[in-house]
Amino acid sequence: MKKIVVVISGSGSNLQAIIDGCESGSIQANVCAVFSNKQDAYGLERAKKHGIDGHFVSAQPFLKADGKSDRQAFDAELMKQIDAYQPDVIILAGYMRILSRDFVTHYLGKMLNIHPSLLPKYSGLHTHQRAIDAGDSEHGTSVHFVTEELDGGPVVLQAKVPVFEDDTADDLADRVLVQEHHIYPLVTKWFVEERLKMQGGQAYLDGKVLGLHGYAED
Ligand code: GAR
Repeated sequence: MKKIVVVISGSGSNLQAIIDGCESGSIQANVCAVFSNKQDAYGLERAKKHGIDGHFVSAQPFLKADGKSDRQAFDAELMKQIDAYQPDVIILAGYMRILSRDFVTHYLGKMLNIHPSLLPKYSGLHTHQRAIDAGDSEHGTSVHFVTEELDGGPVVLQAKVPVFEDDTADDLADRVLVQEHHIYPLVTKWFVEERLKMQGGQAYLDGKVLGLHGYAED
């Protein structure tokens, strides 16, 4: 059985969708551990409820004299703890820290992320508000391989949602989350079944290269 490590910072509803996929047998793998950089992340509770090892890795010991985080040192610690599980895939699910180059290189080709926008639109933060402010009629979410470029790795799958006139950022975030819970387990399943690969900076599904917007681009 393949092993999945999930890294979170918050609620972990995507983590839950992946745990559910594993427990139902749809994803032929186990979530062997969950890591969070936030002690109070609800996702750690979810892990506990399912008998999965949950770890809080604090950034506190890695603060430099200027108050900034020593990203390298923190990521080295996180890597050490993750590698103890010898995972086949690393799933970033609402993990809100910028990754160091070493971390990305170490897991290149086996680390996925979900980002709440139709990439390459709106990398970074506040994606829902930015879509509303721009007057977009549609918004969505993207699962992509993680590369050194922030939210810039090859897209595997996207899901779109409509933007309604009176939407708040929270309304839109809720609508996007519903779609995330469909696409992230599906992409995880593809990866675990070795149907999905990254090579030369491009994503391939069943040997076919995926386009800018991933599978089923219209
Ligand atoms: C999700 O919407 C995910 O796309 C987003 O955080 C949320 C986490 O929700 N990720 C990012 O913004 C990463 N830059 P969850 O904790 O309930 O899965």
